[in-house]
Amino acid sequence: MIIDTLKMINFRNYKELNINFSPRINFITGKNGAGKTNIIEALSFISNLKSFRNAADYDMINWNSNSSYCSSTVIGNEFEKFEIGIIKDLKNIKKKIKIDDNDIKRVSDYYGKLLTVIFSPSDIDIINGTPDLRRRYFDSVISKIIPGYIDELNKFKTIINSRNALLKKIREKLSDIRELDIWDKMYSDKASVIFKKRESFINEYSSFFSNIYMDISKEELPVSIFYNSSLKSSEALSIYNEIKKNRSNDIKRGSTSLGPQRDDYNFKNKRGFDFTRYASQGQRRTAAIALKISEFEIIKKAKNKKSVILVDDIFSELDEKRRYNMLDLLIEKGQLIFTMVNSDIASDWNKSSYKEFSVNNGFISDEKYKG
Ligand SMILES: Nc1ncnc2c1ncn2[C@@H]1O[C@H](COP(=O)(O)OP(=O)(O)O)[C@@H](O)[C@H]1O
Ligand SMILES: [Mg+2]
Repeated sequence: MIIDTLKMINFRNYKELNINFSPRINFITGKNGAGKTNIIEALSFISNLKSFRNAADYDMINWNSNSSYCSSTVIGNEFEKFEIGIIKDLKNIKKKIKIDDNDIKRVSDYYGKLLTVIFSPSDIDIINGTPDLRRRYFDSVISKIIPGYIDELNKFKTIINSRNALLKKIREKLSDIRELDIWDKMYSDKASVIFKKRESFINEYSSFFSNIYMDISKEELPVSIFYNSSLKSSEALSIYNEIKKNRSNDIKRGSTSLGPQRDDYNFKNKRGFDFTRYASQGQRRTAAIALKISEFEIIKKAKNKKSVILVDDIFSELDEKRRYNMLDLLIEKGQLIFTMVNSDIASDWNKSSYKEFSVNNGFISDEKYKG
């Protein structure tokens, strides 16, 4: 699909911005702090209902305003117009979302309809960071592919919260341990569903990842990704027995110590060595890029749709040869939107038509078009 237009009103440092993107290559250039990433952030917000920088909705609102709006029109997709409004009143933040002029009430009815894959310098945290970052990342990809997965996850979180509240009450002798039976049953059923979905997803994703990583690293030894569960099996009955056995431990802690909410994904090479323990900085960066390309490919396969590729400032970290390699890798995938401080690449660009937007302090000060 192609993002045709973007409108931002009182979004971050933009009072009002209207962009008409090229269906092929777009370069957003400008000094540090000019507002380049804010444009990618608006696109990620419209696509995923949250900032890819993990900022709060509140932060999207321009400092001189009480509300913020952004929207995009899309070509080559069954839905055309995506809109988000955020309003702050005294204490709350309200978000209103629309697709093709219809109000959308549930996140799960919105998510995964405007498909983007975002490359950013912080992707490396998926490899280097804590397990919750990997869970969050892979959950977001699964949510784009499997309808209903978001709802499944939300129900699971509600069950864990209730179970944890009960564990604390039992610890304080305010409830009876037998009350856990029903929660453990519900917990096991949902945990089993999530475990199985994650595991079958990562098997497929990993085969994309192995190939793509070898392709760009030119290494011989494949690296695969495995689901590493705290549970012995994904079968509901086995999970039930396991957490039942672990009850006294959980009561002491006041929380549920086994299950998908604790699970992790491990990167290992063919000889069984843990990638996160041996990989160099360069290998990690390559793996981070391979992750995002895998995301693009698995979504394309599952939905028969090409995501729009957003690349936030990762060129500054790559040497010249790697920059051009990266461009060559991405160029055939579809529409690309890059941000970069140094516009040399943009001005050297001669492979296909492109647009360059020079951004300055919340304005587009110049627009060039070639092809
Ligand atoms: N809510 C906001 N209201 C107004 N300005 C903001 C807001 N949030 C961030 N900014 C400004 O946006 C700029 C950063 O934009 P960003 O897109 O990250 O820059 P870059 O071009 O380096 O990617 C900073 O100047 C910052 O002060
Ligand atoms: Mg930036």
